[in-house]
Amino acid sequence: MAEVSTFRNEAAYAQTRLPVEMASTLIPAAYHDDEFFTQERQALWSTSWVCVGLASQVADVGETIVRDVAGTSIIVTRDKEGRLRAFHNVCRHRGSQLVACDQVVKAKRFRCPYHAWAYALSGECLGTPLFEGSDIPVDQQAMFDLDAKSFDKADYGLIGVEIDTWGPLVFVNLVDGAKPLSDWLGDLPSRFSNYGLEGWRVAAQKGYEIDANWKLIAENFMEYYHLPWVHPELIKVSRMEDHYRYQGPGMYTGMMTNPVSQADNSGWLELPPAPRLTDDELVSGRFMHLFPNVSISVLPNHMFVMILTPHGPGHTSEQTYILTHPSTMQSDGAHDAMEKLADFWDHVNAEDIEIVERVQVGISTTAYAGGRMCYRFEEPLHRFQNMVIDRMVGVDRIPDGDPDEGIKVFGSH
Ligand code: FES
Ligand SMILES: [Fe+2]
Repeated sequence: MAEVSTFRNEAAYAQTRLPVEMASTLIPAAYHDDEFFTQERQALWSTSWVCVGLASQVADVGETIVRDVAGTSIIVTRDKEGRLRAFHNVCRHRGSQLVACDQVVKAKRFRCPYHAWAYALSGECLGTPLFEGSDIPVDQQAMFDLDAKSFDKADYGLIGVEIDTWGPLVFVNLVDGAKPLSDWLGDLPSRFSNYGLEGWRVAAQKGYEIDANWKLIAENFMEYYHLPWVHPELIKVSRMEDHYRYQGPGMYTGMMTNPVSQADNSGWLELPPAPRLTDDELVSGRFMHLFPNVSISVLPNHMFVMILTPHGPGHTSEQTYILTHPSTMQSDGAHDAMEKLADFWDHVNAEDIEIVERVQVGISTTAYAGGRMCYRFEEPLHRFQNMVIDRMVGVDRIPDGDPDEGIKVFGSH
């Protein structure tokens, strides 16, 4: 029997499983080791609800995105009945990839480039090899007819993948019959019910290639400890003492700033808020990392989304989007303000990328064996790292929320 990797064993994580006051961070191998990365694809990425993009990218029939999930290429599309569908990006004949990777295309059907088998947007196999859309002249079609025994093309549709959405985000799960996304999200949908996020539209977007492990980027998002040193501009307007934890049950970590950063040079003060927010929501920002790979910063008038796709232990693609309620962009001067806002996020993000790339170097090349975490700032990291460990060792668990809302990150607890 094959030896079970030590990375799939609780014993590897004893130092992180301790209560946060006593815990050390995940073993450094989790961030740079090839074997860990391979195991993580199987144990974590293949068993999680992974964010693959925005619903607006696949809003119309035939709009298609292709994404890497757990090292597996996945097609996400909208079929003729208007349903969202996800499939493995592989032909059922001899296994060619159907659509090139990392693409956004508009398709009528998926036709294999090898022998031209074709599939409907609903995944159904249309023909093998002569079918609607074939370029073969009618008088030559007979010679291509299949003579395979006991063959029914109905048995050779694309291999489906579980898919669902929350707000503007699309998620897939490679587990057949996976537990519903709603279990995974916990109380997040109710926490954001006033915002109507599913109707928000993309106003700006930008992609980054980052030389760091995806977990370092996620962890950096979920703590404010680094603010004074990494974001000297931001700290002037986003005070440490205004940060609170904001975590209910669900596969996420969360924080809130109240009042939200008043960055008057960022353009966002000029954009009107979404309608129907409570007084509290109108003055606060909520920062959630949804395990494993999407971070959302929800402010009264916009939302910043970061979707992470790992391509190796030390390399990650990050797609970022700014979304707003449709009414926000109809206000006077909204486009200029949005430009400033996009620059602001780009600037903050660039500061974060520089520091996480530096951590990647340190964590990969030194005697460092893991460091201590502090409850005050790093409890969300501890929560996240325990989710990572749960997946690695096969524990199917969704964490509870904080016992007390409004725990100050900076103040005493
Ligand atoms: S591999 Fe796709 S048609 Fe042959
Ligand atoms: Fe940061």
